[in-house]
Amino acid sequence: MAKFLVEKCGPLSGEVEISGSKNAVLPIMAAAILTEESCQILDAPVLRDVDVMCKLLGSIGSAVKANYEENIIEIETRDIVAKEAPYELVKKMRASILVMGPLLARTGKARIALPGGCAIGARPINLHLKGFQALGAEIEEGHGYVEAKADKLIGANVYLDFPSVGATENIMMAAVLAEGITIIENVAEEPEIVDLANFLNKMGAKIKGAGTDTIKIEGVGKLHGTKHAVIPDRIETGTFMVAAAITRGNILIKNVVPDHVKPVIAKLKECGAIIEDGDDGMRVRGDVNPLISTDIKTLPYPGFPTDMQSQFMAFLTTVTGSSVVIETVFENRYMHIGELNRMGANIKIEGRSAIIQGDRRLQGAQVISTDLRAGAALVLAGLMAEGTTEISEVYHIERGYADFIEKFRSLGASIKRMED
Ligand code: UD1
Repeated sequence: MAKFLVEKCGPLSGEVEISGSKNAVLPIMAAAILTEESCQILDAPVLRDVDVMCKLLGSIGSAVKANYEENIIEIETRDIVAKEAPYELVKKMRASILVMGPLLARTGKARIALPGGCAIGARPINLHLKGFQALGAEIEEGHGYVEAKADKLIGANVYLDFPSVGATENIMMAAVLAEGITIIENVAEEPEIVDLANFLNKMGAKIKGAGTDTIKIEGVGKLHGTKHAVIPDRIETGTFMVAAAITRGNILIKNVVPDHVKPVIAKLKECGAIIEDGDDGMRVRGDVNPLISTDIKTLPYPGFPTDMQSQFMAFLTTVTGSSVVIETVFENRYMHIGELNRMGANIKIEGRSAIIQGDRRLQGAQVISTDLRAGAALVLAGLMAEGTTEISEVYHIERGYADFIEKFRSLGASIKRMED
């Protein structure tokens, strides 16, 4: 297994170009199987998770061409040969469950391995299933699999108890081919939901309200092929924004939608960073003012993203004053705290809150990347830690960040990848 060796660096500077969004491209790839015609996805990031989704769609019967040099993925699904997402793929990538809605809509049946627990919490799929049931599907569970079956999906009203991103996407993808009108309330409002709705509408779907708390879908008989460029990755954007701040650097971040990273902008500004929005990108400067603490509470969009919590926490260990972070989206997303404390941080967990003492002089240590964003947080901490930080299990990081090391190196960081 590969690991990263991260050396302490000075202020990072230069320009970095953000890749297409991981969390937008995965549901869009799944949605492409809703038609037998060819769909072209542009600006697709080159990532392990994207590769897993290519394999999954291939196993279902799609012809998938991934041109990674040009960041284009072409998917054509004339026939579905397997109505199933097997355990080997679901255990590698939980987002595999996003094929359930499209499979059910196109073939009347979907069988998916239950994703099970995961490092950042229990992550059940009850809301996805509740939506399918409301549309008329029968749900059966057994032997680690869940199956949804319906002769015909019929539009219905669905209320989500929590604005789950995956459930909103899966139900939306099932409802586009259902007969009649579906209204989903208390849905997730994330930009990735809007991107998926835009893609589906280009395929001929009739979806209104994506980006608000209620989505209305008028079912159509058939969808057709289309071409779509995915939005820039707002979590990658946020990670490089924090990289500028934690290293007291000055980075121009290109291919950014500033609206998508509003909470990160607001919090970095509260800490004293300077953020300027220009025609050529967003400049983030941590080299102008002394940086100070702030408090954070993660929330569904447009609140502060849970996917930025660990990276921001790494930064807060280096500023003046103490901060409180409250994680409300996942019940167990503090796995990085033990690792940061091994590097000299002083972070205490009290229930859902983490109390972070600032002004810590971090030291390089051997640490484990427990999940994707936790891994990114350790890299950021490593940039400020005396000596070498050795991060193992970096496959998590490579699941979701495109050209991660190359991008950091181009800004002046010293990060090496080594096979164990
Ligand atoms: C997506 C993102 C992930 C991000 C998360 C929250 C993708 C591929 N992944 O994950 O990066 O961290 O949104 O912004 O887009 N829940 C239930 N029942 C369900 C579904 C969810 O209780 O049926 C709970 C989860 O356990 C969790 C919370 O809802 O506590 C949020 O999960 P959800 O929004 O569904 O996240 P994902 O779609 O899995």
